[in-house]
Amino acid sequence: VPAVVYHQLLPASAEVQADALIAGLDLEERAPAARPYTLVNFVATADGSASFQGRSGDIGDEGDRGIFHALRERVDAVLAGTGTLRTERYGRILGKAERRQRRLDAGRVPEPLACVITRTGELPLEIPLFAEPEARVVVFSPTPIWLGDVPAQTHLELYDPGVERPLTQIMRTLRQAHAVSSLLCEGGPSLLHSLLHEQLVDELFLTVAPKLSGGSTDPSITTGEPLPELAQMRIAWLLERNDSLYLRYRLVGASPRPGGRSR
Ligand SMILES: NC(=O)c1ccc[n+]([C@@H]2O[C@H](COP(=O)([O-])OP(=O)(O)OC[C@H]3O[C@@H](n4cnc5c(N)ncnc54)[C@H](OP(=O)(O)O)[C@@H]3O)[C@@H](O)[C@H]2O)c1
Repeated sequence: VPAVVYHQLLPASAEVQADALIAGLDLEERAPAARPYTLVNFVATADGSASFQGRSGDIGDEGDRGIFHALRERVDAVLAGTGTLRTERYGRILGKAERRQRRLDAGRVPEPLACVITRTGELPLEIPLFAEPEARVVVFSPTPIWLGDVPAQTHLELYDPGVERPLTQIMRTLRQAHAVSSLLCEGGPSLLHSLLHEQLVDELFLTVAPKLSGGSTDPSITTGEPLPELAQMRIAWLLERNDSLYLRYRLVGASPRPGGRSR
């Protein structure tokens, strides 16, 4: 019987910093013409819960937050559903002036565009994001919403929810009307479900926290009907810090790999 061989990754080798690793990612040149190159970032317990008692904040630690903020600093835009926005009480995308300055020094706008998607039009306008005059927010809604008196710079994009692939249409608008080549989706589970069903995800950054929720009243990183068949992924990297695992997966077949580059 042939031996089944594994790669032992831990105890491990090099020390790396999330900011440097993520700053060096090739993203924009991988973007197809009709949509941004799309990363999603989630944290889950070892038993698969994406929130605990309704929130995700207690699952991750400093290492997870390091990846979360480095990804935000790296991309053109950050997308979330209204459930995540409301529960996590989103503020401006890059709270730290140092991160905004690094982007300015690199010739970029200081902060990624914040993008929100809704079906009902019930936006949590009371969250700190909408109170931030420097925040640029694009809201995708099927029906007109009055956004006029919040301090944030808001822009409404209407989309047609009746088409077969509404998110594909939204992605095209982001790429072509807002020049978004790299997009980070921070969830939540129902938005990730829709993105996966329209095959719009290129990479999944998943933190597996060394914690157990011990139950299933909270969602996993996706909710809703499963895909017709399993989506396949490959591991691009695996980091460890204080017993948390930081996985970066690429979805197989999501978008072309230009020039066979490895990052
Ligand atoms: N562990 C993690 O990394 C992580 C990340 C994010 C969120 N979470 C957790 O997930 C929970 C929230 O889950 P959720 O599934 O409600 O979050 P969600 O996907 O952010 O929000 C759902 C809402 O977003 C809008 N939406 C989602 N998909 C849409 C689509 N395809 N088209 C149009 N609108 C769409 C709808 O808004 P309307 O209702 O306005 O129509 C929908 O009700 C919270 O407990 C949060 O803490 C965990």
